[in-house]
Amino acid sequence: MGNSLPKPHGGKLVNRILRQTRREKIFDELDEIPKILVTKETRNDIQNITEGVFSPLEGFMEQEDYLRVVHEGRLENGTPWTIPIVLDAPKTIRSDISEDDDVVLTEKTGQPIALLHVSEIFTFDKKDTARYVFGTTDKFHPGVAKILNMEELLLGGKIDLIVKPQNLFENYHVSPMDTRELFEKKGWRTVAGFQTRNVPHLGHEYIQKTALTFVDGLFINPIIGQKKKGDFKDEVILSTYKVLIDKYFPEERIILGILQTEMRYAGPKEAIFHAIIRKNFGCTHFIVGRDHAGTNNLYYPYAAHDIFNEYPDLGITPLLFPSVFFCNICKSITNDKTCPHSQKCHQEFSGTKIREAIRNGDVDNLSIRPEVAEILITWKDPLV
Ligand code: ADX
Repeated sequence: MGNSLPKPHGGKLVNRILRQTRREKIFDELDEIPKILVTKETRNDIQNITEGVFSPLEGFMEQEDYLRVVHEGRLENGTPWTIPIVLDAPKTIRSDISEDDDVVLTEKTGQPIALLHVSEIFTFDKKDTARYVFGTTDKFHPGVAKILNMEELLLGGKIDLIVKPQNLFENYHVSPMDTRELFEKKGWRTVAGFQTRNVPHLGHEYIQKTALTFVDGLFINPIIGQKKKGDFKDEVILSTYKVLIDKYFPEERIILGILQTEMRYAGPKEAIFHAIIRKNFGCTHFIVGRDHAGTNNLYYPYAAHDIFNEYPDLGITPLLFPSVFFCNICKSITNDKTCPHSQKCHQEFSGTKIREAIRNGDVDNLSIRPEVAEILITWKDPLV
């Protein structure tokens, strides 16, 4: 399978981190530059754009990119891209900021993070965006709710990182430059990226190890960032993965690094977005299982497989896994393609079942490793 790490999406790895002299100049002029306070999630977007995780984006989307991403799943120049990356602002901003202005994006602490060169200020249609990106306008969908709650204007333009934000899980933060260097150093020519927002069950482990059987290395890349109520907390996900890798994985073939971004629950569209990000990290392959990035059975379970047919130019190979489960007759974890037995012999891996079992203090060892169960049971409140 393949023989070298893929080029970053769009051709080159974006690096928009200001040099020391520019940074000092900005600090000197800070009082005169207008400021916008950004949320934690936008702060993550800023870091992802400027470190190249979102290559080829160099800033927040302008209108032409935005509209084509929403309606066609591509940037204005045709490059695949399925999730809008935008900065919203209230209408009142027009009295302080115009196109061509420079603006400093700051954290709640007042700490400047990035300089935004505003190239466009535009309005957008929230319902239309929700319908195309999420396939629904239902406000109970967490991604839709977020869009409906956005301010009325979007500011497009390139950004430059002034100060690297402080990350809670700094030891596990990796940039695409870091991972590419690590993969090269390990001599990996093929790497499968694994996306997750969950604590690992044995079904996850089965697809990770099946993928690893055919590639040189596995990049386990959990999402750290906003998730919906009832999902697992970031620190729980990370600590369960640490123990799982320690006890059950060949350490030299695994890299665990976090992806700091929110879950959108956009199913197929998010699967493409997730694949692009892992391509930027240097992965040659990307694992997509059943109902990837889905919520509440909204998407057809294999919609996130089918959408890859629309992107023959993606530049990363999807590894499409059917539903995996434990079969009482096979007496092993198996899947829809390999098991001939009827559904009533199957025990599904279900997050809901695992959450219930934790509440009762017993998690059966056909679903989850005992060391992972122990962490979940001892954690007082493992859910968001
Ligand atoms: S996701 O929102 O990040 O997709 P999760 O962390 O549960 O949720 O899943 C991570 C990956 O494992 C996804 O590609 C998902 O499709 C896959 N997956 C999870 N459970 C199963 C299963 N029982 N069968 C097949 N694939 C699965």
